[in-house]
Amino acid sequence: MKFQSKVVIVTGAGAGIGLATALKFAESGAFVALVDTNIQNGKKALEIIERNGCEAILCVADIQDSSQVRGAIEKVIQKWGRADILVNNAGVYIQGNANETSEEAWERLLKINLTGAFLFTKYIFPAMEKQGGGVIINVASEAGLVGIKDQVAYNVSKAGVIALTKSCAVDFASYGIRVNSVCPGTTDTPLVQESINRSADPFVAKRNLESIRPLNRLGKPEEIASAILYLASDEIGYATGSIFSIDGGYTAQ
Ligand SMILES: NC(=O)c1ccc[n+]([C@@H]2O[C@H](COP(=O)([O-])OP(=O)(O)OC[C@H]3O[C@@H](n4cnc5c(N)ncnc54)[C@H](O)[C@@H]3O)[C@@H](O)[C@H]2O)c1
Repeated sequence: MKFQSKVVIVTGAGAGIGLATALKFAESGAFVALVDTNIQNGKKALEIIERNGCEAILCVADIQDSSQVRGAIEKVIQKWGRADILVNNAGVYIQGNANETSEEAWERLLKINLTGAFLFTKYIFPAMEKQGGGVIINVASEAGLVGIKDQVAYNVSKAGVIALTKSCAVDFASYGIRVNSVCPGTTDTPLVQESINRSADPFVAKRNLESIRPLNRLGKPEEIASAILYLASDEIGYATGSIFSIDGGYTAQ
């Protein structure tokens, strides 16, 4: 029970990597706030955690909306009086190069993937400062480290998340707040499944995603969740500003 009674906020906890992370934290003894726009998925996640005898709350909030972010954080502080760990995980994906991407699509994606993480970081800071420390884990991507073809807005948003991580690690170190980032490679989640299903031949599309990486497979949400818990753990309390790749070797090539 490594995270016994720690208060953890996971954004995008209704599905994929966020769900796996929320479940792992709950199993490790944490109290978990599940943040998601999808009420149905959020309720399902809450039910699983409560059925396992663990404690969680659901905060229905859109991370791109400042007042909803502040509302979610207030709910957490009202419930447990503190917030030890924030996982900025919620994100969306769109395809397209700069020529194909509309201004609206660009702005929406950056607002969710980058501004959303900024807003949660900004509004969690006072609570973490008051309690003398905390940990923030930002879910970036391999796409923030290299230019993956035909997904310019997504690549830029994730490079921004990496820069946010490094900047906040430097700014908040003296407050006892560590800020680290995971960079997952393509992982088998609803986000990726939807993208595969949209292609002309989903089987070939999946094989293509697998075969471009040395480990020749997609990641599992639970593997990414384990990396997040590791970065959040006090056992590696010396780590801040770290950018941890977990991508089947893709960016090592
Ligand atoms: N799956 C991958 O291959 C992969 C690879 C690298 C990075 N990532 C990143 O990991 C994170 C999670 O991805 P996933 O694959 O689990 O996605 P997913 O689509 O399977 O799940 C994302 C969850 O976030 C929620 N969400 C979306 N927009 C939101 C918003 N504005 N406010 C609150 N909640 C919102 C969704 O409702 C959903 O429950 C994302 O930031 C994604 O960019 C994913």
